[in-house]
Amino acid sequence: MRIKSYEEYIADLLDHPDIQRLRETRNHHWKRDRFSHCYAVGKLSYRLAVFFHANANIAARAGFLHDWYHGHMPERRHFVNADQHHFRISLQAASAYGEHPTVLHAIRTHFWPWGRMLPKTREAWIVWSADNLIWAVDLWQSAKIALRQRWSTGPAAQS
Ligand SMILES: [Fe+2]
Ligand SMILES: [Fe+2]
Repeated sequence: MRIKSYEEYIADLLDHPDIQRLRETRNHHWKRDRFSHCYAVGKLSYRLAVFFHANANIAARAGFLHDWYHGHMPERRHFVNADQHHFRISLQAASAYGEHPTVLHAIRTHFWPWGRMLPKTREAWIVWSADNLIWAVDLWQSAKIALRQRWSTGPAAQS
């Protein structure tokens, strides 16, 4: 079977208005927008899946959808009850959209160990790894954004 490009595997998701709304969240991992985070995790998951001969479609879609949420619901006591954390919202959204169970499993387990369910497939481990690697990139990018904001509001900019 021909391996498609990352964008081909997630083409329908890129057109989804609710997923586009992820661009509005600007404080993901400090100062990143959530869409960029999801896109990067999906892309790295896709590349890792190709490298390790895993299912590139599942890895791309699960990576891209793993943080499909728009803020925490007040009744969800995340970190007090980890099973109520954000991955539950992403899981519901992806499930309602009709994603394959293997995609849903990778979304469900991407927050291990706090999510208390161990990834059990290659694709789920790939998404877990990609999310943690991109998390570090997000912090680096956020630091650059913070510095830029500081410089633009510094004494030179005010004079
Ligand atoms: Fe997450
Ligand atoms: Fe994430």
